[in-house]
Amino acid sequence: MNLFSEISSIDGCFLFLDQDLTKFTTMRLKSRGDLVEIKSIPSLQKLLPILKNHHKKYIVVGWGANQILPHKCKDLVIHLDFNFDTNYLNQQRDEYDLPASLGLNHLTHHALKFSLSGWDFFTGIPASLGGAIYMNAGTNLGEIGSLTKKVRIVTPEGQLREETINSLSFSYRKNHFIKCGEIIVSAVISHRGIDPEIPDKIKGYLEYRKKTQPLSTKNCGCVFKNPKRELQAGRLIDLLGLKELSMGDLRVSPKHGNFIENLGDGNWDQFQSILKIIKSNIDHFYGIEFELEVKISYD
Ligand code: EPU
Repeated sequence: MNLFSEISSIDGCFLFLDQDLTKFTTMRLKSRGDLVEIKSIPSLQKLLPILKNHHKKYIVVGWGANQILPHKCKDLVIHLDFNFDTNYLNQQRDEYDLPASLGLNHLTHHALKFSLSGWDFFTGIPASLGGAIYMNAGTNLGEIGSLTKKVRIVTPEGQLREETINSLSFSYRKNHFIKCGEIIVSAVISHRGIDPEIPDKIKGYLEYRKKTQPLSTKNCGCVFKNPKRELQAGRLIDLLGLKELSMGDLRVSPKHGNFIENLGDGNWDQFQSILKIIKSNIDHFYGIEFELEVKISYD
């Protein structure tokens, strides 16, 4: 059987060839390629060994909020869409066992309802739980890694393994336990107790983001990691007067220097060109090498 017939024969795997993938990233740069939607962990366990046998590379997209896909995607795009009964979030718990494909917005809603302390760390981040854990997403209030207890992962051989999280598992926007080709499928997260001030804190934080970030535009969140906590990439870009630098339909946001906005038909090449200009200026004027926060895939 060829690769595509093998994939199509797996229960809970839905294959779409030569798809428009543009809507799978929040930046909305034009992209096409082959996509497989996965409905359950066992389906993924069957899929990955097949891809391994065929030497087929893959990219996992969650909410695509921190990802850039190439114009023509050669790798297979895997999109997790596990079933989840949202009634699970109707009651407050000490720990939550959740699928990787769940949007963080569900969790923020839950934190607002039950005043869960700690869940304000990921308020307003447009991400799936798996994507957020993969990059230890966070805000200036804290990071999701500090709330994570266990992470379940499918290996390229189709094994399900469980990682128990410790103080060395994460650092700023990075995990230290997911190996090449592994995919996060679920996680257990806790909170820091009940705090009646949490709803106000979350609402205040959302207001802050609305005021300081271009949330209504097509973008991929912060493009670069902050070189240091007190040395923010956005501020450094701003100080060099690079806000509103543009390339085709892409421009550095006038609201926040670490965001690039797609005002229409921006493409992958223009994105690369803007990055190059920013990086060379930052290197030239500050002697700092910016590290990307956004994950870019290549043709
Ligand atoms: N600033 C400027 N000019 C700018 C942008 C920022 O002077 O164009 C100044 C601000 O006035 C502020 C400081 O830089 O004094 C920090 O700005 P901000 O509060 O926006 O925080 P940040 O470090 O730029 C981080 C995260 C964001 C997160 C915000 C708020 C990183 C790379 N970014 O941004 O996360 O939303 O804090 O919690 O760590 C993301 O990861 O995708 C992301 C957007």
